[in-house]
Amino acid sequence: MQVTDSVYWVGAIDWVLRDFHGYLTGRGTTYNAYLILADKITLIDTVKAPFVDEMLRRIGSLIDPTDIAYIVSNHAELDHSGGLPVTIETVGPEKIFASTRGANALGEHFHLDREIVPVENGESLSLGNMNLSFVETRMLHWPDSMFSYLDEGGVLFSQDAFGMHLASSERFADEIAPDILEYEGAKYYANILLPLSSLVTRLLQQVPELGLDIEVIAPDHGPIWREDIGNILDSYAQWAGQTPTKKAVVVYDTMWQSTALMAQAIGEGLAAGGAIPKLMPLGAAHRSDVATEILDAGALVVGSPTMNNNMFPTVADTLTYLKGLKPRNLIGAAFGSYGWSGEAVGQIEEVLTQMKVDLAAEGLKVKYVPDDNALAQCYALGQQVAAKLNETCDCE
Ligand code: FEO
Repeated sequence: MQVTDSVYWVGAIDWVLRDFHGYLTGRGTTYNAYLILADKITLIDTVKAPFVDEMLRRIGSLIDPTDIAYIVSNHAELDHSGGLPVTIETVGPEKIFASTRGANALGEHFHLDREIVPVENGESLSLGNMNLSFVETRMLHWPDSMFSYLDEGGVLFSQDAFGMHLASSERFADEIAPDILEYEGAKYYANILLPLSSLVTRLLQQVPELGLDIEVIAPDHGPIWREDIGNILDSYAQWAGQTPTKKAVVVYDTMWQSTALMAQAIGEGLAAGGAIPKLMPLGAAHRSDVATEILDAGALVVGSPTMNNNMFPTVADTLTYLKGLKPRNLIGAAFGSYGWSGEAVGQIEEVLTQMKVDLAAEGLKVKYVPDDNALAQCYALGQQVAAKLNETCDCE
């Protein structure tokens, strides 16, 4: 698939993938690799190991793979580097380039007997008739990460950034329905890049200073951006800002429906107070869907029954996952039913506090099955959270 006059997509489409290290990838993914047909033919990134033959077949449909002079690894994570050893063996490139940390990381992954040439931030590499330059993007997504920019055609190879997990036969974003792009782009940001939001904001602020004339953004997952590329940059600025809205995510699990009844009453109280409740029972919602919903939420309300002196395992799973993603600017509260000890609510509050969620109401415990009075307390908790949300959220 031709991207520009000199750049071809030679990656692989993974229609099967549903779990990307804990992230539910409901639409599969792609591992994008790019071939630059310069004087020095250059391959940008490879693919996940099981897909290396698919990538090599695509390369072989254009050139003899042994004509590749350079391989550039923008990111050492195995979904992009797993195919590197076989590719090196097949191609026999003159040189392999990565960031300084990338060179170390690739060495530590594959223990290669080939030198990986480290490149510095801002360094340029002549491909003969074109020029490739490198921008270090440390921690986006790993310490080794960098962007490569090809002056010919203004192509920014952005590895994980501006990507999404979306298997499709279309290669360009402008060929895909906008609502799918918006949802999968946000889901990817929430589940991969959210903890790095301050770095994303800084990088976006630096983009004009880089002086790059970006015409095409070619990420390592999902479609390529060639039209209105300002839109995806704006989306990243918005997601990184984590400006709270009136959405209140109520995530919970339940043993005998008591915590579910509480969640429903809390949701009604939230709505009555002007918030927009989104109930996410963990029997039906995956942790990565919860992460996606809190990307633009203002409140996170978490409920769990107490089981064997602990919060329910599914709630612990989701909270552990969310804590790692470091969402910001959230208010919240905890609730749950119990039989005799009732530790779950306090445990949830502890985790929410560690997550810097501002507790807007005292945690609410209900013994066994909520009666009308208990449900009224739940409703009131919802209203209390909504009232605080109205104060903190700068939105209509
Ligand atoms: Fe797509 Fe961080 O790897």
